[in-house]
This record gives sequence, C-alpha cells and structure tokens, in this order.
Amino acid sequence: MGKVIIFGNQKGGVGKSTCTLLAANALASKPFNYKVKVIDLDEQQTIGYLYEGEIERGTKPIWELIAYPHSITGGKIHKFLKVFNKAMEESDLLFVDLPGYLDEGGKTDTVSPMADFIFIPFTPSDKDTYSTETYLLAMKQKKKQVKEEQDRKLAVVPFANKIDSRIKSQISYVKTVRKAFKEMHGIKSMKNMLGSYKDHANAGIDTNLYGGINHIKESNLTKWINELHSIIKK
Ligand SMILES: Nc1ncnc2c1ncn2[C@@H]1O[C@H](COP(=O)(O)OP(=O)(O)O)[C@@H](O)[C@H]1O
Ligand SMILES: [Mg+2]
Repeated sequence: MGKVIIFGNQKGGVGKSTCTLLAANALASKPFNYKVKVIDLDEQQTIGYLYEGEIERGTKPIWELIAYPHSITGGKIHKFLKVFNKAMEESDLLFVDLPGYLDEGGKTDTVSPMADFIFIPFTPSDKDTYSTETYLLAMKQKKKQVKEEQDRKLAVVPFANKIDSRIKSQISYVKTVRKAFKEMHGIKSMKNMLGSYKDHANAGIDTNLYGGINHIKESNLTKWINELHSIIKK
C-alpha cells in the first residue's frame, strides 16, 4: 500500500510539478528504488505532456504516470477513486500533482485528505507567501479532518524553493517565513531549501539528478531529497 505524497500550493509557478518530478525520479532510482506512480490531476498536464513527449522520443521512464485531467466531482468521483486506489495498491509511493487552486468540493479539497504528506513549496516573495499561508491554513484544517475522521496522521510540510543562496535577503526572508509558520501555525518547515537551478529544466522522467548537480556529491538537491526521504520514511 503506497504512501500518498502531494506537492501543493494554490500559487502557480512555485515548483509543484517540478518538485514532484525531482522527488519521483530520485526515489524511484538508486539507492531508494521505490515503486513510484504519479497521477497528474492538473488540467494543465505539465507532467502528462512531458511524459507523453518523452515516451514518443523513446525515453524509458523509471516510474509510471497516470494522466487524469478530468473532473472528479459529482458522479465522477467513483471512477477516480477506482484509479486512485489501484495506483495506491500497486505502488510504494504515489505522487499526485494537483492544480494550483483551492477548490471546495474539487480536486484539492477531495484528494488532500487522502494524502499522507503534503509538501508546500514556496518562493521568497510576499505575494507567494500570502497564498502559501492561505493554502497552509487550509491544509492544517485537512490535517485536523484526517485525524478526526480517519484517526491517522497527515503531515503538512512547507519548504523554500528556487533559492539563490548567494542572495542574503532571500535566506533571511525564508528564515522569517519558517519562523512565522512555526510560531503562528505550529507547522514545521523542511530544514533544507531547494536552490534555483538550470538543472531543474532537465527533471525529466528518467533523469535522476540526485547527487548529480555539478557532480557535487552532497549537493543541495541531495540534501533536500535525503531530508524528504527521512520525513516520508517515518
Ligand atoms: N528549483 C528550481 N530551480 C529552477 N527552476 C525551477 C525550480 N523549481 C521550478 N522551476 C521552474 O519554475 C517554473 C514553474 O514550475 P512548475 O513546477 O511548473 O510550477 P507549478 O507546478 O507550481 O505551477 C518551471 O519553468 C520550472 O522549470
Ligand atoms: Mg504544476
């Protein structure tokens, strides 16, 4: 029975799909070797189109994609649940890529209480932080709902993405946001931030960038993946 992992934020462009790809690639490869599946639930099909394109070019994927751009509300929920439950049964880790909005009765609202982990990428800008906080509060509600209705844990874990570590103001901004999330909402963020890399553009469906950025073994991505892994292993 797979653990369900979501990278969510109601803000577009913060790296939900990219981080899904990076984590799926790394965790499906050595030394982790998890059986990974990804459901792309976003109508935009960022992962879906990439996957399709790479398959057509002959790329051998290291995890399986289930493209599901359709609505899951109303009478359509049963069909989706069948797909979701099958994917969960057949994997160790099931990632779900969601659209970038909060929607009562819609995809995020329905799928988030089915997750084990919701990682929330945020970038160092006030505009993003505002949406991130709104999303974080909504997911905190889901965490409560999961505890009450299913008597299990849903972990909500924010982390900073697209950080240029040479820019001191970005680092202090992230520290302030992390501190605020902890003190105001009791939510602990990841220790490791993800850098802003051109390598992320190569986060395909068969590329394990784990430990591979600039050939530095203990790269920022390696550390981030290792921390992510230590969280989902618990
Ligand atoms: N850590 C990163 N470093 C560099 N570029 C990134 C990083 N994370 C995401 N991006 C880029 O930002 C853009 C938006 O990312 P995407 O994953 O599509 O966001 P979302 O799914 O949240 O809308 C893409 O062009 C992606 O390549
Ligand atoms: Mg996306």
